[in-house]
Amino acid sequence: MKGILLAGGTGRRLYPLTAVLSKQLLPVFDKPMVYYPLSVLMLAGIREILIISDTESLPLFRRLLGDGARWGLRLEYAVQARPGGLPEALLVGRDFIGQQPVCLILGDNLFFGQGLPDLLRRAAALQDGALIFGYRVGDPSRYGVVTLDAKQRPLSLEEKPQDSVSDFAVPGLYFYDQRAAELAAGLQPSGRGELEITDLNRLYLEERRLQVELLGRGIAWLDAGTPDSLMQAASFVQTVQERQGLMISCPEEIAYRMGFISAGELRQLAEAMGANDYRTYLLRLLSHPD
Ligand code: G1P
Repeated sequence: MKGILLAGGTGRRLYPLTAVLSKQLLPVFDKPMVYYPLSVLMLAGIREILIISDTESLPLFRRLLGDGARWGLRLEYAVQARPGGLPEALLVGRDFIGQQPVCLILGDNLFFGQGLPDLLRRAAALQDGALIFGYRVGDPSRYGVVTLDAKQRPLSLEEKPQDSVSDFAVPGLYFYDQRAAELAAGLQPSGRGELEITDLNRLYLEERRLQVELLGRGIAWLDAGTPDSLMQAASFVQTVQERQGLMISCPEEIAYRMGFISAGELRQLAEAMGANDYRTYLLRLLSHPD
């Protein structure tokens, strides 16, 4: 399975933080935001990843992440000239995806929790249809929302409904079979002039090929698209990391634990950094592997 990380958008809700810097490069406590969704793809075992951003920001992502080889990844880059909606990522990435299934993740979505790696690995085995998630939130009108029947099968999907009968938001993490780009190519822009991911998911729902897995309360899903949610995400990361002495979404650690890089390669990465807490953490992984 291939991965697409969409780090586009105008970042309008975070202006002026985003006046000169892409939202997904802003810090979430001690790491650039993009590290968090990238870590999710890595935990799913996905190593061929396309990063999509706007013309100005793409060189910065390239400088930050390179070709991915140091983390055992193959990263490619592509431009989304102007924000045209999330499904456009599948069109921009059409050649990259080829005839494979694909996982699309939004660059401002953070996931953390017990059981997440297993869940991601299972999801990445998808061959037919689409798999999305449902997550109970207090303010569903900010999101795509899924309504489920008594057996937790999806009945309907709506994008940012005013009055929703469901409290289950759909996080920005989508697993699709190899038809996703073809289906996305047939979508029409919505009232706000963009292609909607909810419309793509609805096509799979109409074919009865949409699975919805509920993420339980033991999993944290945060987005960092507004000043409040950015602050909350940073506080969350700081609190958990300080308490446990373990990092959330440290790509070097994940690459090592997933077997993408060796202990020697991890040591080299750490030693190439200036002396700081991040480096100390990586070196400690080698002496205290568990
Ligand atoms: C987008 C999607 C929405 C989804 C959300 C997750 O909304 O359109 O369906 O629930 O991401 O973060 P946006 O945040 O781009 O408005």
